[in-house]
Amino acid sequence: MDATDRAAAELLDAQDPLAGFRDRFVVAEPDLIYLDGNSLGRLGHAARQRLAEAVTEEWGRGLVRSWPEWMRRPAQVGDLLAEHLLGARPGEVLVADSTTVNLYKLAAAALDARPGRRVVVTDDDNFPTDRYVLEGLAAQRGLELRMLRTDPVEGVRADQVAEVLDERVALVSLSHVAYRSGALADMAAISALARAAGALTLWDECHAVGAVPVALDADGADLAVGCTYKYLNAGPGAPAFLYVRAELQPHLRQPIWGWFGQRDQFAMGSRYDPAPDLRRFATGSPPILGVALVEEGAKVLAEAGIGQLYAKAQALTGLLVELADRWLAPLGLTLASPRDPARRGAHVTLAHPDALRISRALIEQAGVVPDFRTPDRLRLGPAPVATRFVDVWDAMDRLRRLVHSGAHEHAPLEPSGVEPETTP
Ligand SMILES: Cc1ncc(COP(=O)(O)O)c(C=O)c1O
Repeated sequence: MDATDRAAAELLDAQDPLAGFRDRFVVAEPDLIYLDGNSLGRLGHAARQRLAEAVTEEWGRGLVRSWPEWMRRPAQVGDLLAEHLLGARPGEVLVADSTTVNLYKLAAAALDARPGRRVVVTDDDNFPTDRYVLEGLAAQRGLELRMLRTDPVEGVRADQVAEVLDERVALVSLSHVAYRSGALADMAAISALARAAGALTLWDECHAVGAVPVALDADGADLAVGCTYKYLNAGPGAPAFLYVRAELQPHLRQPIWGWFGQRDQFAMGSRYDPAPDLRRFATGSPPILGVALVEEGAKVLAEAGIGQLYAKAQALTGLLVELADRWLAPLGLTLASPRDPARRGAHVTLAHPDALRISRALIEQAGVVPDFRTPDRLRLGPAPVATRFVDVWDAMDRLRRLVHSGAHEHAPLEPSGVEPETTP
């Protein structure tokens, strides 16, 4: 059936094995098309209930008596993520801190484990916090930061990494799925190259977890971090996760010597003696309410199955790309994501010189929430667990009408402070 016919999208919804999952989420404004699940995922009904229970029962009634159970949770929820979404073994994933803090901890630990090597490799299209953390570490330690020039549409390539690897490189730190274009990096190839050169790899899984099948163990990643407020739907500022390959754990030491990483935490000993396992990568008291929400988010995705989620993400973005080619290319909006679905995550980006105004007008005039990314990118993230094919169709229809009418040209350029381009 012709994709420009709405009936084609309706048929895809009718055949969608994940269609029922939308009802698991709060849809407060049914006419609002939300295409920013790759920035902040929706609130789940189970998450809302769990938060109320955690506050009322675990905290309100249980008080400090809940801590023995709470102490176990960051590792338990880490194991849930490991099994269903990250391709890791039990004891390799911990829910803790923020992505930024985990990046710092793991990058510093990796650099300490490669004394004598003075180079850190990343790419200029990596997410800002990643680049800044690495820049900071390089400045503090007098290291060289080798910045790959990455094609902002196609993403970082293994052969580019191969070119800059040598015996001076300690760490290669990249995003698995590029935040701007959605380009999917070849984690297996790049990790193998880095390992052969004696370097460690640190992967940012923020835009990959819950969107594409991630196989940290099988693909040979050494270290990884990621956030839980995007596809995992754990809520704003929810705690992040970190992954450390089991074989490396005894050999790495992170720089924040907090009491939650201590071998015998409640002995209150005089010197820091890190736990022998993953626990050494913990710092201080975990944000228990946030960890509970990560668990609820992970449970929903585990039930849907990452294979099915990925298949649906490819179909949703496939429809989006097809409609963009047919309707939007003639209006000057061009595809700024890899065209091959196997080479991208679950979001698609379009380029237009007036993308900022288009983004604002879409929100204010057309009831569609995308986000803007510099310099001229409109990012569309149809999170597969809660987005229908008709949502993609209607959003593209509203977008083409908007741009065709020129109504976006009157949207203000000055930020009011609430647009998605000023949010994480
Ligand atoms: C790829 C990537 N890394 C890191 C972050 C943010 O890290 P943090 O949760 O520490 O703010 C984001 C946020 O959007 C991201 O997209």
